[in-house]
Amino acid sequence: MTEKRYTITAALPYANGPVHIGHIAGCYLPADIYVRHLKAQGKDVLFICGSDEHGVPITIRAKKEGLSPQQVVDKYHHLMRKAFDDFGIEFTYYGRTSAPIHHQTSADFFKQIYTHGGFTEETTEQYYDPIANQFLADRYITGTCPKCGNPSAYGDQCEKCGSTLSPTDLIEPKSAISGEKPIMKATKNWFLPLDVLQQKYINEYIKSHETDWKTNVYGQCNSWLADGLRPRAMTRDLDWGVPVPVEGAEGKVLYVWFDAPIGYISATKEYFETQAAQGIGNKNDWEKYWVKDEQVNQQLIHFIGKDNIVFHCIIFPATLMALNETSDKKYIYADQVPANEFLNLEGEKISTSRNWAVWLHEYLEDFADRTDELRYYLTAIAPETKDSDFTWKGYQLAVNSELVAILGNFVNRGVVLCHKFFEGKVPANNGWGEKEELLFAELEKTTAHIYELIEKFNFREAQNQLIQLFRNGNKYFAETEPWHLIKTDVNQTATVINTALQYTASLGILCQAFLPKTYKQIASLLHIDSSEMVLSKVGNRHILEVGSEIAPAIHLFKNIEDAEIEKQIQKLEQSKINNQLEKLAEATVAEAKPEIQFEDFSKIDIRVATILDAVKVPKTDKLLQLSIDTGIDKRTVVSGIAAYHKPEDIIGKQILVLVNLAPRKMKGIDSQGMILMAQDTDGKLIFVAPENKVDNGSGVS
Ligand code: MF3
Ligand code: ZN
Repeated sequence: MTEKRYTITAALPYANGPVHIGHIAGCYLPADIYVRHLKAQGKDVLFICGSDEHGVPITIRAKKEGLSPQQVVDKYHHLMRKAFDDFGIEFTYYGRTSAPIHHQTSADFFKQIYTHGGFTEETTEQYYDPIANQFLADRYITGTCPKCGNPSAYGDQCEKCGSTLSPTDLIEPKSAISGEKPIMKATKNWFLPLDVLQQKYINEYIKSHETDWKTNVYGQCNSWLADGLRPRAMTRDLDWGVPVPVEGAEGKVLYVWFDAPIGYISATKEYFETQAAQGIGNKNDWEKYWVKDEQVNQQLIHFIGKDNIVFHCIIFPATLMALNETSDKKYIYADQVPANEFLNLEGEKISTSRNWAVWLHEYLEDFADRTDELRYYLTAIAPETKDSDFTWKGYQLAVNSELVAILGNFVNRGVVLCHKFFEGKVPANNGWGEKEELLFAELEKTTAHIYELIEKFNFREAQNQLIQLFRNGNKYFAETEPWHLIKTDVNQTATVINTALQYTASLGILCQAFLPKTYKQIASLLHIDSSEMVLSKVGNRHILEVGSEIAPAIHLFKNIEDAEIEKQIQKLEQSKINNQLEKLAEATVAEAKPEIQFEDFSKIDIRVATILDAVKVPKTDKLLQLSIDTGIDKRTVVSGIAAYHKPEDIIGKQILVLVNLAPRKMKGIDSQGMILMAQDTDGKLIFVAPENKVDNGSGVS
């Protein structure tokens, strides 16, 4: 059994928003690198992904956007698929869980386990909204967090303190649909007896991966097992999802974490059906990638982010274990689950709702063609062992000082010198010396190391080693100085250029998994067909034929200018300002604040002032920069009122200002104080001012 067959999956992203760099770095890029590496070795590999279109996140987004759930998933499914495509993530197939074949497959799985008695039936009390007439998913219940007092915690989690909650933990729960206090109502659901499956299979399964799984993955599983697994409901009272295919289950759907991973299987089926319809292969070939075949060493690998570990290591395998009890067809479960930690952005958690993200489709608009640059930086900072941070400055630095200065520079020099000294034809190798031997010895050693690192999913270090090889190339030029050597020894110069070009060809091949565009560009620079640029040739001294022509030099990468980065940073700052303003807006409609003492109030210094001048803050929609006379001094205040007031309308106006607020920088401007505004229920901001004109500097108490 030497033949290996790989089934590689990347977590199905929720179709409730576009894909951002955190998703890419955590899951899709490492998976793509791994797959490209396997394919480059001619391995049998299937790479499956698709949109996760069920579950509460979708219905919540639909409500927010005023669309139906189907409209939401259609919108994001296409957006995501296009972004993945444009970015060059090469899935064998990208499916979706609203596909009929998925509904069929997951319903069949459920039915099969159900018929075999694999579920337990339990009636539990769940929160129910008596006005909306429906059961409430955890996310649809809000209330006060028992741990930190946050008044808008969710039924599953408090986003302020990060505690995991259950809906009954919330103080004063409210339905997010009607705002009403929910009542408890009995409902019947079907549970997967994870406690029983743990004893029968799961303990042993996880234990068997003690040494070959990443420690973060194994550790998390182990702590779940140590706590003891409890039965988990595989059906939910919800109207969006795969209907539960048994009698008496009206108004219920499959739990999204039951159906979504089955999406890997249904997408595989759909792929082979589509192929078969075109006369390629057999539609049953999907089984090769999912059903145990004793003759083949099948490897199932799930690439995911760390929040998905329990679902892929325990719940999905448990589903398949339960399924395997029902028939002779045995499904395989994960051999490897290389889960990554999280990527932050400019020091803060990426957040879709706060628009704190770099969206892949927006990156591709702003940096068209710069796909390898993003791949490179995201791999260089991949959160493989701990959370890491994306910064635009870091991106710029990585591109300019590594891709341009090291990789691009090396490739460019060899090609330029070949044209300059040898009419663009690969010169002869007139005999290697020590430097050449050393260069290629390092190449051989490092290549083996890179393979090992990739096998261990250590892509970050693997790529780092690759760049080191380019550095060695530059060092070789620095030591041989062909630009001087040509004056004294043409033969020796020919050897140097030949060596440099052969070496470039090898490194080009090694770029294939990491920087696929660069790989192709190097191939076309050297006039080699990419089918000739195969991994087995790395280290070969004669990839290029002597006398063969190469293309004119090009720059593989160009510097990222400060202005480009500045624009991105501005964009993020704008999100921040929008969030601050939204928060302020929320604060005004909030309930009464807790009581304070007179001393608290007396700390506040509010004065009457006059607006002397007002201008829009460039590149923002919401901010005005105001010069005001406070009676005490003249100062600058930045205020988020541009949407409601034109600068020319407010000059000369008397206003109230909180003058002893600590200065804050907004858009690079020091804002000294805060203008008091009343906020209308529709969010409009209106000045608060004395009834009659008074002296500037008059106090307010
Ligand atoms: N949609 C989930 C998320 O984004 C991942 C689903 S992975 C699958 O967190 F296996 F369930 F499909
Ligand atoms: Zn809390």
